[in-house]
Amino acid sequence: MSRKPMMAGNWKMYKTPAETHAFFEAFKPLMANVEHCDIVMCPPFPNLHAAVQETEGSRIAIGGQNLYWGKEGAVTGEVSGHMLQAVGCKFVIIAHSERRQYFGENEADVVRKAQAALEFGLTPIVCVGERLEEREGNRTEQVLGEQIDGGLAPLTGDQFAKIVIAYEPVWAIGTGKTATPELAAAAHRFIRGRVAAKFGEAAAAGVRILYGGSVKPDNVKKLMAEEEIDGALVGGASLDPASFAGVVQY
Ligand code: PGA
Repeated sequence: MSRKPMMAGNWKMYKTPAETHAFFEAFKPLMANVEHCDIVMCPPFPNLHAAVQETEGSRIAIGGQNLYWGKEGAVTGEVSGHMLQAVGCKFVIIAHSERRQYFGENEADVVRKAQAALEFGLTPIVCVGERLEEREGNRTEQVLGEQIDGGLAPLTGDQFAKIVIAYEPVWAIGTGKTATPELAAAAHRFIRGRVAAKFGEAAAAGVRILYGGSVKPDNVKKLMAEEEIDGALVGGASLDPASFAGVVQY
């Protein structure tokens, strides 16, 4: 099965609305002829409106970096899928390792958040990945297996068919240490096998699995040469228009 590549940027806690405007003014023309992959950018909440306006009529879709379940309510400081949809988002990142690490997000959150995203027409980009000590302790597959069984397996087949998975080894995020293409591909194969056991071969063959962790214009080509790698979730290198364009045009 052929899976359309996806390149998604994650600005994390960077950029103001004015900087968002400047980014897209430079980035949009660079994307004018790009058709080989889907392009997504996930700015911080206060920039979503500007980002949606800047990218209107282009092939660039906008996503949130997090959401809370439910439509609205007395939940100070949170943002719902309904609000992301209303502002024009099409995607949302769920359970990024920084959310797992600093805010204690767990598999129960993944299920609730993925279901809430789908309810409001957003495509969840669900992050999984092992920490350094887990890889060094030979526990990578155990950790990935638990994340998939706990966070994804509770979804229905219809729900699963609409999600994107991002494999992000925590030790490779923001560290400049990229997983080798072979190592990333092996993890992707494991993930695909694990979801096949629950959702079947066709669903596993169809799901896009992005790699994330220090993806840059100069290492993306080798990663994308791996059949198992369907795109990238890009932090640092998505902040600069030329650099993210270099990743998209691998
Ligand atoms: P990085 O971040 O590209 O800066 O390593 C990736 C991510 O956290 O999604």
